[in-house]
Amino acid sequence: MKNIVILISGRGSNMEAMIAARDAGQLPVNIAAVIANRPDAKGLETAAAAGIATRCLDHKAFAGREAFDTALAACIDEFAPDLVVLAGFMRILTPDFVRHYEGRLLNIHPSLLPAFPGLHTHQRALDEGVRVHGCTVHFVTAELDHGPVVIQAAVPVLDDDTEDSLSARILKQEHRIYPQAVRWFAEGRLQLDGMKVRVQGEQAEPAALISPVLG
Ligand code: GAR
Repeated sequence: MKNIVILISGRGSNMEAMIAARDAGQLPVNIAAVIANRPDAKGLETAAAAGIATRCLDHKAFAGREAFDTALAACIDEFAPDLVVLAGFMRILTPDFVRHYEGRLLNIHPSLLPAFPGLHTHQRALDEGVRVHGCTVHFVTAELDHGPVVIQAAVPVLDDDTEDSLSARILKQEHRIYPQAVRWFAEGRLQLDGMKVRVQGEQAEPAALISPVLG
C-alpha cells in the first residue's frame, strides 16, 4: 500500500475527506503523517484523534524559505512517502523542494486553473462575473497554483451567491475530487505527458475532462 503524507495549514477539511475515504475503504493508502506549518492548525487535532502521526514545523521559527523547506522535506522524508498531498498548505514552495517531489506532489486549488491562481479565488470569481467556477487537483510545479491537471470539478455561479455560499458549493466538490485523484495515484493509474495527465483505465480523454459536475 502507498504511503502518503498530508500537509495542512488550517482547518484540514480536505484531509478529513481523505481520512473518511480511507475509512470507507475507498482510498487504499496509508496516511503516514499529517504535517502543519502552523501550531494552531485545527486539522492537527483531527488527525491526531484519528490516530495519525502529526508534526508541526512553525515556518516563523526559520530564517527563510529555503531553511524552512529543507527542514520540511527532512520531516516529510522520515515517513518515506510515495506521494505528498498539499491540502490547504498555504506556503509558496522553493524550486528545490518542488524538484525533490517531482511527480509525487499534488495540490488542490479552489478555482478552475489556470483561472484565479493565488488567494481569494471565490470573491475574484464573483467580481469577474464568471458563470462557472470550481476546483482543480494538479501536480505541483515551481509556479504557484500551476501544473498538470489531474481532475477538475465545475459548479454554477448563482445570481445570489456570496463568497461563503460559493465557497461551500466548491468545497463539497473538493472533498469529492481530491480523494479520487489520490486514489488514481495510489493505483498507479496517472500518467504524465507534459502538461497533460492521463488516467489509465478511464475513457481515453485527458483526466481534466472526466469530471465536470454541474449542480
Ligand atoms: C481549500 O479550499 C483549498 O482548496 C485551499 O485552501 C482550502 C483549505 O481548506 N487551497 C488553496 O487555496 C491553495 N492555493 P481545508 O483546510 O479545509 O482543506
